[in-house]
Amino acid sequence: MSVPSVPFVKGWSFVQTLGEGTYGEVKLAVNDENTEAVAVKIVELKNATHLITSIKKEIAIHKMLQHENVIKFYGTRKEGDYQYIFLDYAKGGELFDRITPDVGMPQHHAQCFFRQLISGVEYLHSLGITHRDIKPENILLNENEVLKIVDFGFATVFRYKGIERSVNQQCGTPPYVAPEVMQNKPYKAEPADIWSCAIVLVTMLAGELPWDSPCLGCEEYANWLEHHIEFSPWTKIGTAPLALLRKLLTASASDRYTISDIKKDRWYKKQLQQKRRLSSPVGSPFTKKGMVEYENALRGKNDAQISASQPEPGLVGPGVSDDSVGSLLHVSLSQPDQSTSMLVSTQFLSTPCSSQTALQRLVKRMTRFWSCKNTCDTLNTIKAVCKQLEYSVKQPTSMELTIITKDRRLRRLVFKVFVYPGASEIANVETSTQFTLVDVRLSQGDGLEFKRCYDELNKRLIDIVQKLVPTWALPTLSKG
Ligand code: ADE
Repeated sequence: MSVPSVPFVKGWSFVQTLGEGTYGEVKLAVNDENTEAVAVKIVELKNATHLITSIKKEIAIHKMLQHENVIKFYGTRKEGDYQYIFLDYAKGGELFDRITPDVGMPQHHAQCFFRQLISGVEYLHSLGITHRDIKPENILLNENEVLKIVDFGFATVFRYKGIERSVNQQCGTPPYVAPEVMQNKPYKAEPADIWSCAIVLVTMLAGELPWDSPCLGCEEYANWLEHHIEFSPWTKIGTAPLALLRKLLTASASDRYTISDIKKDRWYKKQLQQKRRLSSPVGSPFTKKGMVEYENALRGKNDAQISASQPEPGLVGPGVSDDSVGSLLHVSLSQPDQSTSMLVSTQFLSTPCSSQTALQRLVKRMTRFWSCKNTCDTLNTIKAVCKQLEYSVKQPTSMELTIITKDRRLRRLVFKVFVYPGASEIANVETSTQFTLVDVRLSQGDGLEFKRCYDELNKRLIDIVQKLVPTWALPTLSKG
């Protein structure tokens, strides 16, 4: 989709694509003067009349919502063939970025995120709204690790003026959908969303999906129904959360735990998180001790599972502050930092050099690294590695690649690579080394599978992955 590059509202610029929603791309728009950031969903309506109805519905639903765990809706604007939806920008990135493939995340983080997810879904259900596409890709975090449900493209009203109706549209993403949704018959909305929340919990606790889809032809699902849990992912999950999952992933929707049952569950209620809060003023599940324990457990378990892009704390060189490197090379193992809150800086976007790097700070993503080559050589190296991996590659522009492959379950996986020249290239700083920021983003397919591919790609790019980011590549942003 080609989105107009000129700012559509005076003083605001589209600076980067954040993701792709059900009906359109989401871009980051930054106010040129005060650096305020908003997410803008852009939908091209031309030649797609069915989209107009869907978008109208999405807007009508989203504008009713006001809850801490639902992304805030600011407003809409229609300009020519484009519909714009303005949303709060979730600075903490995507939930699936916090999930280490095949490992998951510390149990107390998973519990904290799960409670917030249930709270958001309970709110939606209280208004008679069902989301119908709950999955980690549709769950974002703000700078304080507060979970935000996004993308109401499949949402619908299932209860109106106290009268409930069954829903019948088959929507969602197969590994996350409930078995009754697959059956081409009307189904109850609330239990179907609860099932999807349970699958999200499995991915958080084990770093993998339990099955491709919940149908009897799927061996993993059949095993679960027969209580064969001697396999992964169940072997990675503690008995208390597993007992909850047993009540949530029941084939019969009427036997499935409701939200009020979930709230009485032993594991759900258990105090797992540390009392002392370290970095975040509100509700952060993260504590230093918990992270250290988790990192140690992870290293002991399997070194290879630590993403090649993830620098050890010791690799941050002298003269490079943790602040500056932390946000750029932020890793799924490390404590979320406060760097994104430092964005309120009058110098943001004021020079070409700071604009690029400050922008990269604003968009927090784990699937990115610095390359020690220029943009052209970096892309050529990535293309060569993709060839080894038998991924097909297209190059829509000189600064981007589209990579297409199949995941382990043979489903289509498409991701995009964007390169941004480092400060030396922009500012023409004399240095023997070029730096390029490489940002890799899922376009289509499963988030966890994308992270697996990213890690493989990153491992093979070891020769160009830059461990130390030069201080001159990073602007000093005021902390005010
Ligand atoms: N990706 C999709 N929607 C987003 C939002 N509101 N904030 C950040 N990233 C997003």
